[in-house]
Parts: sequence; C-alpha cells; structure tokens
Amino acid sequence: MEYRRLGKSGLQVSAVSLGSWVTFGHQISDDVAEELMVTAYEAGINFFDNAEVYAHGKSELVMGNILKKMNWDRDTWIVSSKVFWGRCANPKPNQKGLMRKHIVEACHAALQRLQVEYLDIYFAHRPDVNTPMEEVVWSFHNLIVQGKILYWGTSEWTAQQVTEAHLIAEKHHLIGPVAEQNQYNMLHRTFMERDYLPLFQNYGMGTTIWSPLSSGLLTDKYFDGSVNEKTRMDLMQWIKERALGDADKMEKVKKLYELAKSLQLPLSQLALAWCLKNPNVSTVILGASKVHQLKENLLCFDALPKLTDGVMAQVDEILQNKPVLPVY
Ligand SMILES: NC(=O)c1ccc[n+]([C@@H]2O[C@H](COP(=O)([O-])OP(=O)(O)OC[C@H]3O[C@@H](n4cnc5c(N)ncnc54)[C@H](OP(=O)(O)O)[C@@H]3O)[C@@H](O)[C@H]2O)c1
Repeated sequence: MEYRRLGKSGLQVSAVSLGSWVTFGHQISDDVAEELMVTAYEAGINFFDNAEVYAHGKSELVMGNILKKMNWDRDTWIVSSKVFWGRCANPKPNQKGLMRKHIVEACHAALQRLQVEYLDIYFAHRPDVNTPMEEVVWSFHNLIVQGKILYWGTSEWTAQQVTEAHLIAEKHHLIGPVAEQNQYNMLHRTFMERDYLPLFQNYGMGTTIWSPLSSGLLTDKYFDGSVNEKTRMDLMQWIKERALGDADKMEKVKKLYELAKSLQLPLSQLALAWCLKNPNVSTVILGASKVHQLKENLLCFDALPKLTDGVMAQVDEILQNKPVLPVY
C-alpha cells in the first residue's frame, strides 16, 4: 500500500481508503461490511470514511461494532465522520447544519455510534450559508482543543468558502481545515483540476476524493446500458437518471471501456488509477457492495504503469472535459 500525507498535515492516509455510503447499514449485511473492512485493513487501508447521515446513523453503528470486534490497535487506523445533513429523515432546525449546537451534538453522537474516544477527521459535509463562517471554524477548532477530533475538513465547499475558513483561522490563530472531500472521477473534474488549485498551493489542502467510479458507472457493467438488480443504480433512481439517462456520458463510458479492454484492464482499474495519478489526491475513497469488487479495485496500483502519457492523452480525447486553466 502507498501512503500519502493528507495535504500539508503530518497525517498519513493510505492512497485508497474505504467508505460506507449506501452500503453499510443499508445495501449490504453486517457480515459483508466486516469482510470488506478486514480485506481493506489487511491490504494496508488505514482510513475508513463515514457520516452521520449514512443510513441515518446506522452506517456508523455497523462500523463501530466492527472496529470494536476487530480490536485493531487504535493508532493503526483513521476514522472519519461528517456533519451537516443530520441523522434522521426529517431533521428539525438544529438537527441539521453547521451551527455550533449541531456540530458539537453530532460529534458526540458519532463518537457514541462509532464507539471511539475521538474522530481522526471530522468533515463539514456541505457549507452552511446560514451560519457565520466564524462560528463554524471556532466550533471545529474547539473540538480539536477538547481532543474530540484530531483534524477537520470540508466537503463540496467552493474554493472561496474554503479560503474564507482559512482566513478566519489565520486571523484568530485557529486550526483550519486540512482536507476537502470532493467528488473526483473521469466524468467530474473541474473543481479538482481547476477551482481548487489555489487551495492546494496556498493552504496545502489535501483531498479525500469520493465516487471515483461515479457510483459504479465507470466499471465493466453499464457500458451496454443494462442495470442489475440491487446495484447502486437500481437502488438510487436519481443517480441512474443522471448517469444512464445521459447519452453523451454513456458514449464516453463505452469508449473508455474499449480503451481499458485494449490495455487488458477492467474499466474500474483504469478509472481508479487515473484518479491516483493526480498528485493532489491524498486518498481515493473506494466503495464496494461485494468483497470481490474491493479486491478487484485494490489492484488499481498495478494498472498505474499502463497509464502512460499517451494513454492519459487518449482518455482526455475521449472525455473532452479537461478544464482549461486561466492564463494571466
Ligand atoms: N462527501 C460526500 O459528499 C460523499 C458523497 C459520496 C460518497 N462519499 C464517500 O466516498 C465513498 C466512495 O464513494 P462511492 O461509493 O460513490 O464510490 P464509487 O467507487 O464511485 O462507487 C462504489 C460502488 O460502485 C460499485 N462498484 C465498485 N467497484 C466495482 C467493481 N469493481 N465492479 C463493479 N461495480 C463496482 C458498487 O456498487 P454496486 O455493486 O451497488 O453497483 C460500489 O458500492 C463513499 O462510500 C463515502 O464514504 C462522500
């Protein structure tokens, strides 16, 4: 396993990690969740990603039980939670958002569900335009001072919002966000490859990127447009519509599938290795509903030598979505 520093922080994260969205506490049994975590840990993965909203808190409960059962040394793994959406279907006003009350209460609840004394990373799952940024930054900083979290990050914030958080942190000598958790994959590039560049340069932000396979679209199973039962696309209609309903996207997936085949790779490995090539990616969060998927995905490191400059150019030619950088 390769380890990368989470931005300019000292924290070392495995270059691929394991997430629990849709799967833990919902799509898969607790036994499969355990097998996934054990497979991941034994392969050197040291970061497990979670959030209060995943399966309305059940995902954290399942992960917490597994971590307790496995009894791995606490200093060998990193666990995260995320706050914003709330842990129930129809959250009341202070059960959602980034007001100090919810940040603190959601942290306490996540610690209980995960059965840990501290969260290694705590993410603001979305920006909260109704809460002053000073309140948000102070709240995360105070949790660090109290020892309840070690690092904090943002998720799907604009570059301007992250910059504002850093400016406030600098002004008051507080600890600012260390990483952004953003979507990054072959079909979704602009934030990572253009908008966030000043954050990497000016603040040393790391990234824990999500949906590297675009919810499974960048695998060998959708290039002909068919959907198997109980897959992500089957379970989540809105994802299916955005993916399979977009003819241009599906045409690109088909071409990427052919390119991967010519390299004797599954498309999933080409897609994951492509993410790993970006030096601003600290860790690629993998998702899997089956152990064999995780095992296949872990082989993405072997695909890296096949991603020559020529192959990367072929990918860009297919995708036609490489962001154009401003020239001053
Ligand atoms: N911060 C945020 O807003 C945010 C948002 C989303 C996710 N995340 C985090 O990022 C993690 C990863 O995101 P993601 O789950 O969307 O990742 P993804 O890699 O894009 O999708 C994972 C899904 O693709 C399918 N899959 C994976 N490997 C496969 C393979 N080799 N062959 C065929 N199908 C395969 C599986 O679904 P099926 O078997 O059901 O098809 C799997 O659950 C999440 O678990 C979560 O921790 C964060």
